[in-house]
Amino acid sequence: MLLYGAAGYTGKIIAARAKELNLDFEIAGREADQIQELAIGLGVPYHVFTVDDQHAWQLALACKKVLINAAGPFQYTAQQAIDACLRAGVHYLDISAELETYKLAESLDDRAKEAGIQLMSGAGLFVSYDALVVYLSQQVKEPIGLKVGFRHFGGFSKGSVLSSKNIADLGLLVRKDGELVQSENHGTKVFAFGNEDVECMPTPLGGIILSYKSTGIPNIEEYFSLKLPAAELPEIVADQLPDGPTETERAAGRNGISAEVTGKDGKVVKAYIDAPSGYNLTPLSVVAVANRILNNDFATGYQSPGSAYGTDIIRDIPNTHLHSIES
Ligand SMILES: NC(=O)c1ccc[n+]([C@@H]2O[C@H](COP(=O)([O-])OP(=O)(O)OC[C@H]3O[C@@H](n4cnc5c(N)ncnc54)[C@H](OP(=O)(O)O)[C@@H]3O)[C@@H](O)[C@H]2O)c1
Repeated sequence: MLLYGAAGYTGKIIAARAKELNLDFEIAGREADQIQELAIGLGVPYHVFTVDDQHAWQLALACKKVLINAAGPFQYTAQQAIDACLRAGVHYLDISAELETYKLAESLDDRAKEAGIQLMSGAGLFVSYDALVVYLSQQVKEPIGLKVGFRHFGGFSKGSVLSSKNIADLGLLVRKDGELVQSENHGTKVFAFGNEDVECMPTPLGGIILSYKSTGIPNIEEYFSLKLPAAELPEIVADQLPDGPTETERAAGRNGISAEVTGKDGKVVKAYIDAPSGYNLTPLSVVAVANRILNNDFATGYQSPGSAYGTDIIRDIPNTHLHSIES
């Protein structure tokens, strides 16, 4: 496995998780000192190159089975990293929350099939999210509606604040009758997370593309427990942003994903996922998917977490549990 963007805030936690599982991996990134120091600490080989250097990609991807791209905002890195994987025949994963990256992966379905690789953008927080949606979609005869509330804990990293601009700029995008459209201003919605009810704000997350791919549910609305950081800041100055929550802060709370699916007959089923906080959950999730690929469990072409792994992948993510909600 190769991990690009390894010296970023989330990249370092992904690397630590890969090390914990004793995976065979190398790291890469564009900042020589940071990558070298990290590689020495982990005891793994490293590569230093910019994302546009296709020759360096070729060398770094030689003899690799899977790439995790953790270098975001992904609008600047996904295209180049995917191109390199298509050329090298290496499976591609990233942790993007940017919908444009999902669309890019979707558009390259045929080329990924030809190359024999799995192309999965959004293999972070959306792994358990999508597994939950697949689970619920199987509880009704013909699922026609999905509403998801996402409760985030742990603040935001610098990279997430920067990337959230790409989400905030989309407006209130929803899926309606199978198409991506601007919402006719649906309001807030209260979602249950075990004993806690949380009012969440309409926000386009990954499900309008990823869960549509996984289930074909034609109507999808998504809600978030917080305002997107980019929507809160009048101006984003990268150097002034904090790296991200400390390990202690990450351990102090949990994430939740609560979803309801409506069937054509009007039946509504609900369940939620209780999971580690965001910057612990993402590394646990993407490494779980990479580990599947390393064990030859993949599907070629553009894939969402749910289309490749269904509900089953939840069992690979530590301390993450699906609970039904009685209607
Ligand atoms: N949905 C999820 O599951 C989830 C969870 C966590 C994070 N994320 C996303 O993951 C991304 C990274 O987050 P983070 O917390 O690790 O941010 P970060 O601490 O800012 O790290 C970003 C890393 O990517 C590198 N990078 C950025 N732009 C690059 C480019 N054009 N070429 C090469 N390398 C580049 C940075 O290198 P330099 O230091 O040299 O700039 C840094 O190593 C963000 O887009 C964030 O939204 C998604």
